[in-house]
Amino acid sequence: MKTPPVVPPSDGPPTTRIEGVAKVTGRADYTADAVPQNLAHAVLVGATIAHGTIATLDTTEALSMPGVLTVLTHLNAPRLCKAAVFPLGASGSRRPPLQDEQVRYRGQHVAAVIAESLEAARHAASRVRVTYRETPPAATLGAGEARRVASLGLLSKALSGDSRRGDPDTALASAPLTLDAVYTTPREFHAAMEPHATLAWWDDAEHLTVREGSQWVDGAQDVLAVWFDLKREHVRVLSAFVGGGFGSRLSLYPHAGIAAMAARVVRRPVKLVLSRSQVFHSVGNRPATRQRLRLGAEATGRLSAIIHETTNESDRDSHYAEQGSRASEAAYAVANYRAENSLVTLDIPVPGWMRAPGEAPGSFAIESAMDELAAQARLDPLQLRLLNHADSDPHSGKPWSSRRLKEAYAAGAEAIGWSRRALEPRSRREGHEWVGLGMATAAYPTRHAPSEARVGISRDGGVYVESRGVDIGQGSYTALAIIAAEVLGLPPSRIDVRLGDTRHPRSAFAGGSMLSSSLGLAVHGAASTLRDRLFDLARRQPASPLHRRSREELSVREGRVVLGADPAVGVDFAALVSGSGQEQLDAMHRTHPTLISRLSGPKAFTTMAAVRTQTAGDSSCYSWGAQFVEVAVDEELGTVRVRRMVGAFDCGRILNPQAARSQLLGGMTMGLGMALSEAGHVDPRTALVVNGDLGEYLVPVQADVPEIEVLFVGEPDPSTAPLGIKSVGEIGITGVAAAIANAVYNATGRRLRDLPLDLRAS
Ligand code: MOS
Repeated sequence: MKTPPVVPPSDGPPTTRIEGVAKVTGRADYTADAVPQNLAHAVLVGATIAHGTIATLDTTEALSMPGVLTVLTHLNAPRLCKAAVFPLGASGSRRPPLQDEQVRYRGQHVAAVIAESLEAARHAASRVRVTYRETPPAATLGAGEARRVASLGLLSKALSGDSRRGDPDTALASAPLTLDAVYTTPREFHAAMEPHATLAWWDDAEHLTVREGSQWVDGAQDVLAVWFDLKREHVRVLSAFVGGGFGSRLSLYPHAGIAAMAARVVRRPVKLVLSRSQVFHSVGNRPATRQRLRLGAEATGRLSAIIHETTNESDRDSHYAEQGSRASEAAYAVANYRAENSLVTLDIPVPGWMRAPGEAPGSFAIESAMDELAAQARLDPLQLRLLNHADSDPHSGKPWSSRRLKEAYAAGAEAIGWSRRALEPRSRREGHEWVGLGMATAAYPTRHAPSEARVGISRDGGVYVESRGVDIGQGSYTALAIIAAEVLGLPPSRIDVRLGDTRHPRSAFAGGSMLSSSLGLAVHGAASTLRDRLFDLARRQPASPLHRRSREELSVREGRVVLGADPAVGVDFAALVSGSGQEQLDAMHRTHPTLISRLSGPKAFTTMAAVRTQTAGDSSCYSWGAQFVEVAVDEELGTVRVRRMVGAFDCGRILNPQAARSQLLGGMTMGLGMALSEAGHVDPRTALVVNGDLGEYLVPVQADVPEIEVLFVGEPDPSTAPLGIKSVGEIGITGVAAAIANAVYNATGRRLRDLPLDLRAS
């Protein structure tokens, strides 16, 4: 791989992760690492049918085995209350675990063995005898009727993702150029490195502590409090380090409830780690989608209409809509637009957010369709995008907060060598391979949710940041340290960032690519308030060399308040703290205070109601990018090899080019998996995901990943001032699958509309 490109001066310097050493030396404290005294282990038993009821459940043999403490089933488990699911809450399931004999999906937890050791629990779990009354399941997108999300109830209507402007049907009917195509994506899985785990213990009947790798400890705390009918503040959730989330840890899933129930019953700490195959049906996934795209255009290629219809599979209880239209609604200057979302409800686990939910499959459809339209119009696909470039948000009518999309196109095209692309497909042959280039637009909104942070200085002068926000591996520890460090004039490595603990101030969840911008503003605010207090102390404390100086003369440097004109004159933070007579100095900052009070406090942090969309302000704020790839297709085998990938991104100001580049490399790699290998294969007779493990669910491995180049073309975004940053995480995956499909078309002349791409399919 090449060295990272030179970044614009407005970006921060590449900063090595402050938590990196802890991670690579094994000191980072992941959920299942802890071994408290008197620990018991839980192992889950999953349903072997997808639809029906439990007829008999015999735990006699399991209970008689050495080391077994108890077996929890629906017959003896504590009763739990129902917690709200998205968007009213953070439960991953409308139904708490082990509450009735119904089986709603294959793998549903039907029993848990709790034992002295993991081995004893696992052995006994194999001896729990369950019989079922089975009803044939419906398990694939083709096995049920599609119903409009908007027709499923009031709440669904608001969340349906349906939208329209103008009159797309009339425009389409009279368009000289039209495209009508169906694109499909399979069920996909997060495949985070760290299997989901919970470690739970009760201090007494009213106080529960749960370690759980979570993207949202506020949400998890709320769900646990509801399930167990506890005061929210009596539940502590800890999520210091997380081995990847990708959406699978935003909601709290039933296994966590089972661990907490088990700890209550055996009156000991209980650790429950999902097996890799259990992860595949216990923590959500991206549902399979079918998208119909209709485009209408003038003969010149100028778009006149887009109709984007998305249908996805869902479970029977929740109304999870994978809104493909998120990728098309604001992407191009088109006056007439309609998006509709439908569901097919099936006997499958509840789907959930995964890696740019909506945008990832949606961008495959719209960006493939644009490539098809370009071929019809005999235009270069990049030309077609430029021809339809939107100078303002075509949907909200608002100006873009910033949009260096044309710069992204130009930088990406230059880096991949786009000028070498033949307009005619199947033009370039190298040995036994056909070679082609493809591109796609990438986009992801910048949203915000209320956040709080505390920044403080202890007596020894050490600076700390505290929040419930979580670092799921994306680099929040370092990003927040950079923000506090900038304000307080210290290197980031000197900031002690403490995250993922419900004892800290509340935070936006680590999802939707919005943690840095949301929580970052709170950290910036708290650090600024603290700096002002330090200035005041420096001016007021009689012993201070800065006594009676004016504020404008002061600045911070290396842990000291100094005279701007002569930094040798100054006073240490530590001296200011001890001079204040307090143990520490700290400051809290809360973003969106009016919104928080309107939503009456906790709801602002435990529901989606508080998320401010990209168009909530005066402008429309998205990150933008362009994906370019070169592929080589083996003529005899039909195998697709991606030779090069270039992503050029406008994510606003880049706080930490090193971490941002890594995130985008990761997102683009996920796009590679989505394009070429990732698919949950569902046996329609049994609803079994037959490849539900990392051996056969094929995420890209090192050998699959080509040279990837990440370019930054952004500038500080005014709408997120003073930070100037936009969303970084999820944009990386958007557009990649389409760019690869488009390159395969350019190489071979074959248009593939189904993921993962397979040239052997007809
Ligand atoms: Mo992301 S799917 O919001 O973790």
